[in-house]
Amino acid sequence: MRHLMSPLDFTTDELDRLLDLANDIENNPQKYAKACEGKKLATAFYEPSTRTRLSFEAAMINLGGSVLGFSSADSSSAAKGESVADTIRILSCYADICAMRHPKEGAPLVASIHSQIPVINAGDGGHQHPTQTLTDLLTIRSLKGRLDNMTIGLCGDLKFGRTVHSLISSLVRYPGIRFKLISPEELRLPDYVRIDVIEKSGAPYEEMDKLEDAIGDLDILYMTRVQRERFFNEEDYIRLKDYYVLTREKMSLAPKDMLVLHPLPRVNEISVDVDDDERAVYFKQAQYGVYVRMALILTLLELA
Ligand code: CP
Repeated sequence: MRHLMSPLDFTTDELDRLLDLANDIENNPQKYAKACEGKKLATAFYEPSTRTRLSFEAAMINLGGSVLGFSSADSSSAAKGESVADTIRILSCYADICAMRHPKEGAPLVASIHSQIPVINAGDGGHQHPTQTLTDLLTIRSLKGRLDNMTIGLCGDLKFGRTVHSLISSLVRYPGIRFKLISPEELRLPDYVRIDVIEKSGAPYEEMDKLEDAIGDLDILYMTRVQRERFFNEEDYIRLKDYYVLTREKMSLAPKDMLVLHPLPRVNEISVDVDDDERAVYFKQAQYGVYVRMALILTLLELA
């Protein structure tokens, strides 16, 4: 039995096959409409979510399967003190596969140890968000035609942004990847990613404060939200929340073929008037999230 805790759980060859499968699902949805008939997905979400939970549910429904689950800790027996280990033992009796989001780093890993069914990390605290990374990789590969030889700008909350940490860990495995790390001093990428992942891989990188200094050189601009829920101090959040706002004016400095990705939700960091720019692909990205989660469910259930 196989779980997904980190995007690195898949080799680059396995990732290629998964992304190929996602593209095939996109082009031939009917072929997969009954692939999971009789199978059940449990969504165990201890933290709010729109895209991840509902795209997992849409993915399983598109595959002909069924879904059950809870969307907050308050609506499960976690509110009465039940442990993650006991909860997954119970979900193993009810479902064939589980997607779990939890505010504590490592909680899905604990679940996987006690589980009788595959567990997918759907985001654990500020640590990892592997299915967002699969979504990001599918979006980039589908729209750019490659995952190598690119300059990637990551902008915003690089400290707590689990989507950024997961994406960097995956992209350093491809040749010719360069990073521009755009953040205020307080939200810089942690050393366990900057040193242990980027420097160890040998990928060139620069840290900078101003988006305008980087945007002209980018193939991909990955915008992120400053996450109120990760701050200990409201004052710091208020000071930093609008540090970056991508506007039409800033987009005029960007290459014509640069793509703007964002894991969403967006708050103020991308002005709504950028949405009409054909380089803004963050809503398409959310659609790719369904195809890649369908491919992941099929792969972990060994139905592909
Ligand atoms: N991108 C993402 O994880 O969105 P949700 O928090 O809505 O799931």
